Amino acid sequence: MSQVEKYTKTAVALHWLIALGIFLNIILADLNGYFSDATARVMIDLHKSIGITVLGLVILRIIWRLTHTPPPFPADYKPWEKLAAHTAHYALYGLIVLMPLTGWIHDSAFKQAAAHPLILFWTIPWFRISYIANLDPATKTYVHSLFGDIHTYLSYALYVVLSAHILGALKHHFIDRQPELQRMWK
Ligand code: HEM
Repeated sequence: MSQVEKYTKTAVALHWLIALGIFLNIILADLNGYFSDATARVMIDLHKSIGITVLGLVILRIIWRLTHTPPPFPADYKPWEKLAAHTAHYALYGLIVLMPLTGWIHDSAFKQAAAHPLILFWTIPWFRISYIANLDPATKTYVHSLFGDIHTYLSYALYVVLSAHILGALKHHFIDRQPELQRMWK
């Protein structure tokens, strides 16, 4: 087998931390309805903490991407496979920026925000977006509901693109027998 072209250790660490954050956030958001109000509150607070952290990690990942050239795809990838992978990667970048941003806007327009301060992991006080938090009450209610809906619809798009990304990687690795997963490991 020829030498596998790999991502750098920084890119690999950011990739898997962001993946873990997104996975946990989907679970926390989709399952909190099955728990008591008190437990759901804890799950949503954790969801917000992880989401803000993911936003920071995504910014670092974008800086990495702008300052590094990723390893080329293996030579035997078909043109349509390269196009599909590139499309999924750009869609993923867009979605992993927009998911936390829309969640944060939704939360900044929360009318009871003052009674529920945003404290990351119950330790680090964090800020709401002041422009949104200072809107008049009627506009705030509208923005809260609009961005809640956008956050939900983007999550549906995320499920589709994430599934394509994971299935594509598994196809290359297990069906085409290309050393795909090693590219994003260690
Ligand atoms: C990694 C980034 C994030 C992902 C993948 C994510 C994903 C999701 C998903 C899948 C839902 C459920 C949508 C539905 O079924 O209606 C949701 C709901 C929600 N998200 Fe996020 N989110 C992220 C970041 C954030 C951030 C940064 C905040 C706020 C600071 C936030 C606040 C919320 C709130 C308040 C809800 C409604 C929870 C509920 O009442 O059940 N999210 N999110």
